[in-house]
Amino acid sequence: MRRIVIGGNWKMQVTSTTEAVSIADDIAQGLSTLSSVHVFIAPSFTELYSVNKAVKETQLKLAGQNMYYHEKGAFTGQISPLSLANLVDYVILGHSEPRRIFGETDEFIRQKLLKALEIGLIPVLCLGETAKEREEGNTKAILHQQLAGSLKGLQIEKMKMIILAYEPVWAINNKFLNPDTEIRPATPIEANETHTIIRDWLKNEFGAPVAEEISIIYGGSMNAQNAKELLALDQIDGGLIGGASLSAEKFLPIIRTAAHLLENRSTDYRWESNTLRFDE
Ligand code: PGA
Repeated sequence: MRRIVIGGNWKMQVTSTTEAVSIADDIAQGLSTLSSVHVFIAPSFTELYSVNKAVKETQLKLAGQNMYYHEKGAFTGQISPLSLANLVDYVILGHSEPRRIFGETDEFIRQKLLKALEIGLIPVLCLGETAKEREEGNTKAILHQQLAGSLKGLQIEKMKMIILAYEPVWAINNKFLNPDTEIRPATPIEANETHTIIRDWLKNEFGAPVAEEISIIYGGSMNAQNAKELLALDQIDGGLIGGASLSAEKFLPIIRTAAHLLENRSTDYRWESNTLRFDE
């Protein structure tokens, strides 16, 4: 079943444990009446332990912002998937920042995705084209390349566990990624088009029933103001939110909008949280 998912990607923005725990507490408290939405936040690795302790008994789940694909060994500076799995349910992979700033390739991302699935972490696989790639008419080709590069040949049962996040690079509120272009959210028409490209690729590769079960969320300058029109689209099953996830005040209204709009859809969103882990 598709999941309604709202994720908060904190990037390297919250650098104090006290602050991280306090924001997470506020978000968790606001979630008690919004059980239809699966919500996670991805604090920095160094804050995960404390935030995990604070929100353990709540509906708020945690995500890693990345990980390595070896479980253990002489890999200075890397995060083991096993360490991560002690603290989080989700892991963000293939985000445009590691892809475009640190040169992560589709194959590298695929290795991590396979490892995440093997150990029962839910991968949130990010995809997206740059402004230049879009201008040159290459959006579809880039998305197909990224999808094929990380997902081709995956077992259907594993595919069903993955969440895809379409995040056009030009929409991500990041000046390093977009030094020369105006940063703006995708319009509903643009987002609908690209989400359809992604779902069509999934249909082709895995068949229509499987494609219909996969959540495709949108990310890139989403906030409480524009969430309504984006989440109103049938092809959008939630959001991955950066800047607007850094306080409960900004984040909770987006979650409420998602709960309200998505609950009234015909899509089957009865996804049981106990199917979170493969091996359960
Ligand atoms: P933004 O970031 O909402 O700040 O644009 C989204 C993301 O990069 O996940």
